[in-house]
Amino acid sequence: MKSTEKEKQYIYIVQALLEPSKCKIGITKNLEKRLKSYNNMTGVSKENSYEYLYTCEVKDMKQVEKDIKQKFYKYREYKDKEIYFHNPLLFGDYVDFIKEHNMFIEEIFIKKVVPKQITKIVKKTTPTLEERGITPKDIMQTAQKADDDEFYTRYEDIEKEIEMYDKRIWKDKCVFCNCDDAVGNDERNTSAFASYFLRNFDRLKLKTLICTHYGDGLDIFHQGGKGYVFTRYGFSDIEDYEKLKVYPKKYTGSFDDPISLKILNEEADIVCTNPPFSKSIEYWNILIESKKKFLIISNIANPITKAYIPYFKNNQVWAGYHSVDVFLNPKWEITESAGHWYTNFRVKDRPKYKNLKIIPLKKIPEKYKRYDDKKILLVDKCYIPSDYKKPFAVSNRSILNGVLEKGYEIIDNNPSYIAQINGKEKFRRVLIQKIEK
Ligand SMILES: C[S@@+](CC[C@H](N)C(=O)[O-])C[C@H]1O[C@@H](n2cnc3c(N)ncnc32)[C@H](O)[C@@H]1O
Repeated sequence: MKSTEKEKQYIYIVQALLEPSKCKIGITKNLEKRLKSYNNMTGVSKENSYEYLYTCEVKDMKQVEKDIKQKFYKYREYKDKEIYFHNPLLFGDYVDFIKEHNMFIEEIFIKKVVPKQITKIVKKTTPTLEERGITPKDIMQTAQKADDDEFYTRYEDIEKEIEMYDKRIWKDKCVFCNCDDAVGNDERNTSAFASYFLRNFDRLKLKTLICTHYGDGLDIFHQGGKGYVFTRYGFSDIEDYEKLKVYPKKYTGSFDDPISLKILNEEADIVCTNPPFSKSIEYWNILIESKKKFLIISNIANPITKAYIPYFKNNQVWAGYHSVDVFLNPKWEITESAGHWYTNFRVKDRPKYKNLKIIPLKKIPEKYKRYDDKKILLVDKCYIPSDYKKPFAVSNRSILNGVLEKGYEIIDNNPSYIAQINGKEKFRRVLIQKIEK
């Protein structure tokens, strides 16, 4: 190396295969050589090889190392060694801290934690209402009765949505995750909502996180048949999450159990979860009555249901930024369904506006506009007439894409509008109208 050439400096997190509860966070100027030296260490069996979990380049490795020691001193196994406790949540905290450090240059490698057994895409039969034009009799009844509750949210979908909002909304708040948001000692036994808020507890400056486990359902998180309440209040160095749980007598963990309701009404500031689709309306009514802030995932059809329409009409509720089409099923396989975020936090500059095609009526292609038996205009594919003065009917998609923020309003509190064509009930829609200036 030329004397003028500056040597690169790296931070790494390395782990021995047989010791998943620990990791070493170290510094080096040669990642390859360092890993080799770990694997050549005398006394270490071949099966117990070392691998990098994370590597990145930094400007001043000693400074970053010093700051890591200071920040995570409670997670060090021995005071004189850079061995830290490891679980997926802690690992996320270490990585976030390094990436946010002002000496951080770039990430080189991060080991992805992929749920095992993700082998195939299971197509769900959840109807896409708009495209299929399902009759009203079919829609909600079938959807509500179906045993479609076992859709587990992926961490990345939660992160993607939450990162869209101003971080300050979480400051000093008590977050309540109340639909089987179990907390176990590793990621497979923890709902992604719980994982997200545990990992980001300090960054979001949360006051409290309360998660409840539903004891009556499928025990996908291996948390047993008893309902419990998990509470993390402020800074916590407790690693065994079991110590933060209480199992009240006769507590089911249901969102409508008296204990859950008491938490909701007396402690929670923000509710954040993915409630069971089949109980989405019961859940909604309880949530709305509580007057709490919320960010939840539910069925894409909800904006055209009786329960949701009045709140959309009065601008008290909005679709969140993203749809959620991919979930995990109880076998931890990727599965598809039609979910969307809903919130009563103000949604700004929605990227989905671009899906709306607001143009003069005569420019809307014929196949996407028609009139029903009552001579009400029905528009599809998110075409919106910009020059039409009368009420017209749109599908849930237009609401999800933010048409109500673009100068249109729902015209009444009717449950929804059922279009009839040639005497037959055809489509469930909602009637909107351009707001007169
Ligand atoms: C759509 S899944 C979501 C689970 C978890 N919140 C997530 O996002 O991964 C809904 C969960 O709620 C559970 N559940 C069903 N009825 C419930 C109730 N009354 N109270 C609380 N949870 C319930 C189901 O068993 C299921 O695990």
